[in-house]
Formats: sequence, C-alpha cells, structure tokens
Amino acid sequence: MRKGYFIALMVAIFFLVLFFQLGCSEESTVKPKTQEEMVALGKYIVHTSGCDDCHTPKMFTEKGPVFDTTKLLSGHPQGETLPSLDLEALGQNTWAATTMGLTAWIGPWGISYASNITPDKATGIGTLTEEMFIKTMREGKFMGVGRPLLPPMPWEVYGKKTDEDLKAIYAYLMSIKPIHNEVPQPVPPNNAGMVLAKK
Ligand code: HEC
Repeated sequence: MRKGYFIALMVAIFFLVLFFQLGCSEESTVKPKTQEEMVALGKYIVHTSGCDDCHTPKMFTEKGPVFDTTKLLSGHPQGETLPSLDLEALGQNTWAATTMGLTAWIGPWGISYASNITPDKATGIGTLTEEMFIKTMREGKFMGVGRPLLPPMPWEVYGKKTDEDLKAIYAYLMSIKPIHNEVPQPVPPNNAGMVLAKK
C-alpha cells in the first residue's frame, strides 16, 4: 500500500514539474521582440508580401523584369517617361494598364506611381512615425492623414495584418538604405494624356 502512495506521489511531482516547465516556455514566447528581431520579421514579411513587385524598380533581362536591388523599394524611377498608350482603348472600367516595371499604373483613377518607401526624409517615408505608418496601411490615407491612396496599393489587404506585423514592417523599412528618388504626383484621369509619350 505504501508503495502505491509513493508511486502516486512521484507521478504527481512529475506532472507538477512538467506543468511548471510548460508555463515557463509559454512565458518566454510572449516576451517582446528586440529591435533586431522586429527588423528581421519585417524583412521577411515585406519580401514575402509582394511589396517589391510594385515598389522596387526593375532591370530588364532576357527572362523578363527582375528586381533592381540597388534601388530596393524606392518606387517609380524619377524622370522615367511613360510609354504612349491609346487612352480610348482603356475605356471606362474595362481595362487598366501598367508599365513593364509595374511602378506606374493607369486606369479610371488616372495615373498612380508606386511610392518611395525607403527612409529618405525628402522623397521617401523617413518622416513618417510608426503611428502614421500603421494608419496609412490600415486606413489607406497618404502619410496616414492625407488624401486616399489610389489603386493598386492593396492597403485593405495589408491593413488586416496584426499590430506586431505592421510595426515589424515599419522597423524594417526604417532600417534599409534611404534612396533619394522623387516619385511624380498622381495624375487625374483627364490629364493622363498629357503625361504619356506622344505616339
Ligand atoms: C500592386 C502594387 C503595390 C503593392 C503590391 C504594394 N504597393 Fe504600396 N503603393 C502602391 C502605389 C501605386 C502607391 C501610391 C498610391 C498613391 O499615390 O495614392 C503605394 C503607396 C504606398 C504607401 C504610401 C506612401 C506614403 O508616402 O504615404 C506605403 C506606406 C506603401 N505603399 C507600402 C507598401 C508595403 C509595405 C507593401 C507590401 C506589404 C506595398 N506597399 C505593396 C502600389 C503597391
């Protein structure tokens, strides 16, 4: 009988220790991430969420456009002339078009250009606070408070990310090389023809 109690006691101690251990490891997973870990998480999210597709200028190779990593996330290249296009063919809510580099877009909203999202203070998002950045991504407003963001920036999709993910994206974007590249202002639909190269 005594042996029975002893075994029961050992089993109880075993579970108690196990429980305690599990409790400890759970605690360590909720520990806030370091700045370095946030930057690494943000880097992973940015480069697996398609941001480069629109925000990184391309180089043109035999295999088609590839990211120009020397201009990472610096937006539509300043001074690039947009090719000519038959605007009639675009019609109303039928077709939209983009340049080969995917940095300039034309549709019923006019012409939009992928922003410079490097931390350059004059031409990028270097003056955006973390709070303004999260507002931009959640509410689709330029600099978090300005005009509504134009298509095709998928802010409604990215806005669903967790606070931690958006903070990590911000931490990463603030850590990359600032690139001075002044992206043109968007063009309203009626003026689009004035910006395109002549046929
Ligand atoms: C399909 C193309 C596309 C993709 C993908 C995309 N963007 Fe954009 N983004 C744009 C365009 C175009 C604009 C400019 C919209 C405008 O001028 O109204 C923009 C604007 C922004 C702005 C606003 C800049 C400012 O000064 O307020 C931020 C921030 C931004 N994008 C971040 C991101 C991030 C981060 C990702 C990836 C998670 C991403 N974008 C993916 C096209 C895209």
